Amino acid sequence: MNYLFERKPLEMLNKEAEGEKRLNRVLGPVMLTALGIGTIIGTGIFVLVGAVARDETGPAIIVSFVFSGTACLFAALCYAEFASMVPVAGSAYTYAYATLGELFAWIIGWDLVLEYTMAASTVATGWSKYFQSLLDMAGIHLPASLVTAPFDMNAETGAFIATGSIIDLPALAISAIITVILVLGIKESARVNAVMVAIKLTVVLLVIGVGVFYVNPDNWTPFAPYGWAGLSFFGDAFVWGAGSDGKPIGMLAGAGLIFFAYIGFDAVSTQAEEARNPQRDVPIGIMLSLVICTVLYIAVSAVLTGMVPYGQIAVNAPVADAFKQVGQTNAQLVITIGAIAGITSVLLGLMLSQPRILFAIARDGLLPEKFFAAVHPRFKTPWKATLLTGVLVGLLSAVIPLRVLLELVNIGTLFAFVIVCVGILVLRRTRPEVARPFRCPMVPFVPIGGIVLCLVLMMSLPSENWFRLLVWLLIGVAIYWFYGRTHSVLAKKRSGGR
Ligand code: ALA
Repeated sequence: MNYLFERKPLEMLNKEAEGEKRLNRVLGPVMLTALGIGTIIGTGIFVLVGAVARDETGPAIIVSFVFSGTACLFAALCYAEFASMVPVAGSAYTYAYATLGELFAWIIGWDLVLEYTMAASTVATGWSKYFQSLLDMAGIHLPASLVTAPFDMNAETGAFIATGSIIDLPALAISAIITVILVLGIKESARVNAVMVAIKLTVVLLVIGVGVFYVNPDNWTPFAPYGWAGLSFFGDAFVWGAGSDGKPIGMLAGAGLIFFAYIGFDAVSTQAEEARNPQRDVPIGIMLSLVICTVLYIAVSAVLTGMVPYGQIAVNAPVADAFKQVGQTNAQLVITIGAIAGITSVLLGLMLSQPRILFAIARDGLLPEKFFAAVHPRFKTPWKATLLTGVLVGLLSAVIPLRVLLELVNIGTLFAFVIVCVGILVLRRTRPEVARPFRCPMVPFVPIGGIVLCLVLMMSLPSENWFRLLVWLLIGVAIYWFYGRTHSVLAKKRSGGR
């Protein structure tokens, strides 16, 4: 049974990235930071912030952003140390393989599918909503059968309801377009991303710069109308801050939900194998993109809750609506364009990361190598894994209601962050001699802080997510048992096969 915990030597990992099955090293620090910002700012700040501020936190959402941002900062410092030590594709999966062994690595890899594919599907549906509102502004209306998934889930009762539509065509279309760009090359993808990031940053800065003149400080009182807590403990035993329906509410509950807005800085680590100087530039990309986005999020949420009393914040397009409420109706178009650009780059970043994780897993033999680790001879991209990701994201977003999956994405990603923080503690002990071009400061306090904060955020999510996460991970363990266990490169080495 020891093989379940067999670790992949760091030297083997680094050697692989030099081998023939490798990706194209073209990204510098600016492109990597842009990819980070591209993957971070999107649905969270343009859509989710409204429902959370109105129903969970009030103006205290500003503190929720600080709380979640701090958890991410601690995790990011650990990611940065790993990325500088093991600059290969695969992110947390690869780090877990080097520290905690094969089974854990596979579980995290499987968990990252939850993060990237499910998050991308959720984001694609958000894109579709904003795109349709842009079409509406231009007087173009899609047929009712093409605007959304055929059924939806009532968030309160959990019951399925027919929407009257057949397919979410815009979501399917954007997934297809992004897939083509991603197959064509990493440079092309990074360029498209850079344009989108420039547009969305301009719009976010405009929102802050203009919105600040409409802030009425009275709107910040009461600051935390739902309280400061909102923790649930696995089951129905709520420690503090349960709403009337039993779901946790308050600042911490908001932090657990708004965490979605930060997902994406870790994506930079999946691009390590395409970085020109990964040891230096990937840590820069991770830290810089996270810090910039954290500052912007705190500013946008302060402006938003200052412009509109929290009870009147819109749920669907909160930022654009806030400007409408203060009489700036023409801002709606600019913000909608910013949101579409923003969400496009998030989709691109997430759909870029997923195939690279599958690629790394397949190179280790835990998934069929011929398919998932195939690199296109001309484009130098993991094209088959990219196509599969595109098909899955397109189909999921076109026909399945994904609202509930949002919280599942959060808990899955937080779980990956916990493992990365644990990995840093393990590796400092087991391999202290390995060069670390970037060292996480104040070890063990920062990794332990990251573990604790991420666990608190996991517990602030509605309890059924723990159950869903467990089911997902059990499916993963079954796949490992029937495939990965016997096909892994390490297993074949053990039996003298390779
Ligand atoms: N952080 C990304 C977003 O907010 C996933 O859309």
